[in-house]
Amino acid sequence: MERLQKVIAKSGVTSRRKAETLIQDGRVKVNGKVVKELGTKVSNNDEVEVDDILIEKEAPIYIMVNKPRRVLSSVKDDKGRSVITDLLGEDIEERVYPVGRLDYDTTGLLLLTNDGSLTNKLIHPKYGVDKVYVAKVKGMLTKQDLTTLKKGVTHEGERLKCVHARILEVDKKKEKTKVELTLHQGKNRQVRRMFEAIGYRVEKLKRERFGTLTLGKLQPGEYRELTPHEVKQLVDLTNKNVK
Ligand code: URA
Repeated sequence: MERLQKVIAKSGVTSRRKAETLIQDGRVKVNGKVVKELGTKVSNNDEVEVDDILIEKEAPIYIMVNKPRRVLSSVKDDKGRSVITDLLGEDIEERVYPVGRLDYDTTGLLLLTNDGSLTNKLIHPKYGVDKVYVAKVKGMLTKQDLTTLKKGVTHEGERLKCVHARILEVDKKKEKTKVELTLHQGKNRQVRRMFEAIGYRVEKLKRERFGTLTLGKLQPGEYRELTPHEVKQLVDLTNKNVK
């Protein structure tokens, strides 16, 4: 939700100050009704008209970030820790939000956008969007462990499962295993909790793929806007997969 005068200003109709005058003069309608209060908040779904002409909402924007460790997947933090939007430069003027979350210490692909409707589809399990993680786990994982993870485990009363699991590397000396897990669910700390449920500790965790997107050459802390084609691929994915 944003203040009406800000939404009008962002649409490019006029400045925020002049938008306030338009509102007070009764020239602004929200969902067909004249609104004169300056404090009024509107959502992306509300229809805003100025002099009976529908305003164009802020254009949607989609940004892929390679999240480094020790950064929060939120837009602000009361404790003063770094947040994901701190990584964005002045070229990004839109207010964007993370699509789901990665833990403070998890690295990898995080999408930021102001498109709430696509966000909901990308994170809801019913749309079956793959989230692919590579976990470095302490201990020697067995095939049976992978089967258990695919069948599902219960952690703190929640049923957690993955759709694929495979071992990528085994370090016998250090007794560590590198595993790839593909999830459709996106529960809080899901990968770490799934391993905890079967007696292992995740030492490092990175998200390598999100639906049709991979990081490519993007280094930790770097970001880039998605191309129109990449956005279309994501939208197509949510239309195709819905169960
Ligand atoms: N699973 C986790 O445990 N942590 C993340 O950041 C993402 C998935």
